Amino acid sequence: MHQPAKTLDRRSFLMGTAASAAFVAGSGAWARPKLALRDPAIERLIRRMTLEEKAGQLSIFRIPGFARSINPVTRNDASVDEVKQQVREGRTTGFFNGFNVGFNRVLQEVAVTQSRLRIPLIFAADVIHGLRTAYPLPLAEASSFDPELCRRTARATAEEASAFGLHWTFAPMVDVARDQRWGRVSEGAGEDPWLGSLLAAARVRGFQGEDLRADDSLLACAKHFAAYGGVEGGMEYNTVDIPETTLRQTYLPPFEAAFAAGALSTMSAFNDVAGVPATGNRKLLTGILREEWGFRGLVVSDFESEKELIAHGFASDEADAVFKALWAGCDVSMESGLYNEHLPQLVRSGRLKEAVVDEAVRRVLRVKQALGLFENPYRSLDPDRQARVVRRPDMLALAREAARKSMVLLKNEGGLLPLPKTGKKIAFIGPYVSDKLNALGTWMVLADTANAVTLEEGVRAALGPAASVTFTKGSDPNAAIPGGIAAAVAAARDADVVVLYLGETIGQSGEAASRTSIAMPEAQQQLAEAVAATGKPMAVLLKHGRALALEGAIMAAPALMCTWFLGSESGNAIADVLFGDYAPQGRLPVSFPLRTGQEPYYYNHRSTGRPQTDANRSFKAGYADVPNRPAFPFGHGLGYSEITYGPTQADQAQLRPGGSVRVSARVTNTGARPHHEVVQLYIHDEVAEITQPVRVLRGIRHVALAPGETATVEFAVRAADLAFVHADNTTRADPGTFKLWIAPSAASGTAARVELV
Ligand code: BGC
Repeated sequence: MHQPAKTLDRRSFLMGTAASAAFVAGSGAWARPKLALRDPAIERLIRRMTLEEKAGQLSIFRIPGFARSINPVTRNDASVDEVKQQVREGRTTGFFNGFNVGFNRVLQEVAVTQSRLRIPLIFAADVIHGLRTAYPLPLAEASSFDPELCRRTARATAEEASAFGLHWTFAPMVDVARDQRWGRVSEGAGEDPWLGSLLAAARVRGFQGEDLRADDSLLACAKHFAAYGGVEGGMEYNTVDIPETTLRQTYLPPFEAAFAAGALSTMSAFNDVAGVPATGNRKLLTGILREEWGFRGLVVSDFESEKELIAHGFASDEADAVFKALWAGCDVSMESGLYNEHLPQLVRSGRLKEAVVDEAVRRVLRVKQALGLFENPYRSLDPDRQARVVRRPDMLALAREAARKSMVLLKNEGGLLPLPKTGKKIAFIGPYVSDKLNALGTWMVLADTANAVTLEEGVRAALGPAASVTFTKGSDPNAAIPGGIAAAVAAARDADVVVLYLGETIGQSGEAASRTSIAMPEAQQQLAEAVAATGKPMAVLLKHGRALALEGAIMAAPALMCTWFLGSESGNAIADVLFGDYAPQGRLPVSFPLRTGQEPYYYNHRSTGRPQTDANRSFKAGYADVPNRPAFPFGHGLGYSEITYGPTQADQAQLRPGGSVRVSARVTNTGARPHHEVVQLYIHDEVAEITQPVRVLRGIRHVALAPGETATVEFAVRAADLAFVHADNTTRADPGTFKLWIAPSAASGTAARVELV
């Protein structure tokens, strides 16, 4: 069946370069909160504050008794009376990771009726991908390449979290992550700064909503400022040693996008950048953030990172650490209590100017004002709203939609997927087939694990009671179980087709979960080898919070699909895709290497002097034991149909400053099923002052194609899209030739050449 070719216009869903920039910069219904630099009411308040009260406004603490496991224990739990007294005396600006709307309300009442200056508290939490309704892990959701979806899940998250008495989320995490050994890859948008920027802005918009003062809006916190994703060797909390050009070209863009979208807070990272710890880094926190970018929000330290200036060897003692953090521009201390302890004396001794403290206090009060807390300290503190909002049906439906759109089909030989709903006996095998514990993923501080839909539950709901299916654990995630492999092999032999569900536990990716090997844990690899040896057709579903290095029977399986950590509706969403009610449409936001030893492996690496361009690998950049390529490239992802791309064409050979070139390619669904294609635009600057990446992503378009249908997909490319950070740290495009690809991944497509004159 052939349908007429269609050309997508600029309004089509989504994103050419210009449209993406507009999304980042903000338009339409999303109003960026406007902050006056000096507000008379705030100035009056500051004049009345004691140094102790100022230190209090610059200190935030975890609410005692909650969520202890997600951070190291730092102090003994205070009693309720002690906490109230702390509030009464103005020793804290707010609390985090509490989640108890009733208690928050009680504390707020103490703050605004019993403290001397009646300054309202702010309540914060790590709400990273949902609260009771869990959406896919941020990295999973990034696979949708769909900023509007990310905005919607962040919006729904804000609605639910604010009903728990929260005003502020420590999200989005916008760290670009190029090394898959780093456990926190899972919390961000992957390895690409352009995609990361798009999704950072979308998430900020979602959290903050149309009006930051609204009951259901959350203040966003773009974290961790900056370059945490660049830790050496992917080792958690490690050193970051990068030149400023890389900082600006790779790690900073998502922050800039988040602030352009209105984020009014950021968190200073644990790491150093070229020897200067981020929390004491005046160039970062004041020079770039405030002076260059005009950021008017607040900086909060990451959990005690101001105290860690001592261990870094950057501060001599606690008082020195407080001085250096405040001087650098870190306004709020998280958890250490060191600002309370040392700030007043630092000012009294004359070492720290009170004006520095006042400016930090001003920023905090300004943010509280932007949240509407002075007018309405009880905003988001209505205990009745919680019951109406939690796990609302439309939120669960969104969680399922997002989960479906987050799966990435890596391989599907012989069209093994989708599976038929009837007529075949299917054996589901693996540690996660009936497991709720690992469904949601890291950073679910208030996880509703009991209501997470397992694969078994999803499959049974999809196929009904008469289904011919079995579910066999086969192994624990990291250890064999007695008789496990034998039972799995028996189940496989007895079936027509096998679905293996393998991968990481929630604890294996996330904070403090860096791994020296990103291969499948040995016990599960052995399970896969034994099951594959039965010769039954085998599809492998992967559970993971990072790219994995797949080997043996898993890599050789005819069908392979990333299912990451998909959240509350995990099992239902997987069943939707597995049985073909929906086709997979996700794309890899991280490159899958062949082996862990290739890490850091990222598609947008620089050109070397000896690139591996053909099969002859000797004396070429790479390793002797594996080719210098990924197992699956960034941007890769299949649907259930077949797609072909025509060549990339440019409507002009030359691009003039101020003008644009239209590049296009014909994309055809040559298969028999409907298809959702994520068309990608990549560029490469052929000769530059600083060698440029072999490719960088500069545009995406989502295109729905019926069987037989062709679309001509166009992008308008302007000089600004070709810019890079120069040695003098300015961003601009230089005259010269550029390659442009319209392609289904970072490792495919034919290029057009354009000259910028
Ligand atoms: C993490 C932050 C988090 C903070 C508060 C730290 O360990 O790095 O991302 O927001 O804890 O829980």
